[in-house]
Amino acid sequence: MGRLSGKTALITGAARGIGRAIALRFAAEGANLVLCDLNLASLREVAAEAESKGVKALFRRTDVSVRSQVQQLVDDGISEFGMIHTAVNNAGIFFNAPFEQTTDEQYERIMAVNVRSVFLVSQIVIRQWLKHEIKGTIVNLASIGAAVAFVDSSAYCTTKGAVATLTRCIALEYGPRGIRANSMAPGIIDTPMLPSQADNERWAKTAIPLRRLGEPIDVADVALFLASDESRYITGEMIFVDGGWMLN
Ligand SMILES: NC(=O)c1ccc[n+]([C@@H]2O[C@H](COP(=O)([O-])OP(=O)(O)OC[C@H]3O[C@@H](n4cnc5c(N)ncnc54)[C@H](O)[C@@H]3O)[C@@H](O)[C@H]2O)c1
Repeated sequence: MGRLSGKTALITGAARGIGRAIALRFAAEGANLVLCDLNLASLREVAAEAESKGVKALFRRTDVSVRSQVQQLVDDGISEFGMIHTAVNNAGIFFNAPFEQTTDEQYERIMAVNVRSVFLVSQIVIRQWLKHEIKGTIVNLASIGAAVAFVDSSAYCTTKGAVATLTRCIALEYGPRGIRANSMAPGIIDTPMLPSQADNERWAKTAIPLRRLGEPIDVADVALFLASDESRYITGEMIFVDGGWMLN
């Protein structure tokens, strides 16, 4: 018996990086998957790899910032598997820009992809959970940028602060119905999202007490804990997965 046997997990942004690692980790623990990303070719490969572990994986090209597309994804997932029990809001974008040079378009896009998506996915699955009395779990990708400031990252850090706050509000509002919501705050995780190899190496040597960048699997293991019944008495938390970065 896997730790997620009999469950279905929706994971956004699953084509690469942390989302891919979460999808494969959950599949290894027996969860059927509802996966989405903008990159359908890579997502198809992740779905095939997940299915090789003996589960089923439905995948769609979904822009998570668009309500109609998210609604379609959830509807398709429920008609395939009967219910979605866990939603992992992982899809996200990042850019570096000095605050005074950040454009309206950049700001609006990052708010839409990193925050509106969490609002949409969470609201759409929670409506199902209330209707069918499901004690579902939400796992959101915040960041250490939700708790500390980074130069040239004001828009990104703002989105992650919003994700952390939205997580707590959902946890408070739906705790009485048995619905849990938690977030993770990764530090520097080695994925294609990272902008500078030079910075990464410097941080690993100086700012990260465990003296290495994080790997996507380091985050996926915590997501598994938060999605599973092992975290049944934890809600509204933000768990740092940062190799000790926040100790500095
Ligand atoms: N890598 C890090 O160091 C780090 C640190 C803290 C938090 N995070 C967060 O973890 C999450 C995953 O990050 P990652 O490093 O794996 O990033 P990544 O860029 O490697 O992967 C993100 C995935 O999201 C998808 N995506 C982007 N916009 C989308 C949209 N509108 N609709 C659907 N899919 C979309 C991309 O196509 C990509 O496959 C993000 O929310 C990120 O902010 C990452």
